[in-house]
Amino acid sequence: MQDRIALVTGAGRGLGKAIATVLAQKGAHVAVADLDPETAGQTAAEIEGLGRKALALEMDVTDEASVDQAAAAAQEHFGRVDIWVNNAGTGSRAMLHEMTAAQWDLVLTVNLRGAFLGSRAAARIMMPQNWGRIVNISSRAGKGSSHGHCSYSSSKAGMIGLTKSTARELGKHNITVNAVLPGFIATELTAKLGINITNPEQVVLTRKGKPEDVAYAVAFLASDEAEWITGTTLEVTGGTGLFAG
Ligand SMILES: NC(=O)c1ccc[n+]([C@@H]2O[C@H](COP(=O)([O-])OP(=O)(O)OC[C@H]3O[C@@H](n4cnc5c(N)ncnc54)[C@H](O)[C@@H]3O)[C@@H](O)[C@H]2O)c1
Repeated sequence: MQDRIALVTGAGRGLGKAIATVLAQKGAHVAVADLDPETAGQTAAEIEGLGRKALALEMDVTDEASVDQAAAAAQEHFGRVDIWVNNAGTGSRAMLHEMTAAQWDLVLTVNLRGAFLGSRAAARIMMPQNWGRIVNISSRAGKGSSHGHCSYSSSKAGMIGLTKSTARELGKHNITVNAVLPGFIATELTAKLGINITNPEQVVLTRKGKPEDVAYAVAFLASDEAEWITGTTLEVTGGTGLFAG
């Protein structure tokens, strides 16, 4: 992906930072978008340290104007956007009977509306280019379940529907859309939510997952070699997905 232009949302830390970094290691220049401009700037500086161009963008994926402005800024700066990764996400745990509507709305808005707004902005840039790769970071919970977190699995299942539907619409424009479904990977998000792997016997590949495991899958789906793959879901779970509900 030498000199491809990528935009990664939520790239200030966690999986998004690893995705932005791996894409840069493989030759892409990267627009690093995050709600937190400070962490976005840090990731961008590290990418420049790899000899690639980077642009830090403050972006709230829930805000239509913010997403469209950041997309326009990336296009203006780099001249195009080839790869768009909808990675920004959040969670707010509560059992169904205790979950507030505000908790539900927060998770659905960041994870699903955010992916919709990002996909739309990406499509508007990529359609005239007649080339594009959109990768959505869903979750294994989107195919299974998430105990005490129904908003999260619902949002991630929604992202799979978004992936498949937009893949059908955009194929004729030479744009692929795929989803990566990570299993548990320790990040600030999982620490905040108090989530951990509860049963080590369910880790088929015995080591713990790393953000780079997800990033390498994204890089493949964003590569030229993946040009005949669209509308798919790729599980990156170390085998834990074999046990998930
Ligand atoms: N860590 C896991 O085990 C795991 C598993 C499956 C899926 N995922 C998904 O991977 C993605 C990244 O998760 P993570 O674990 O790295 O989380 P994280 O909380 O460590 O990082 C998320 C990043 O997104 C940014 N962000 C949050 N809300 C935003 C908004 N409204 N606009 C723009 N940026 C925003 C945050 O500032 C942060 O930099 C999420 O979509 C998450 O649901 C994570």
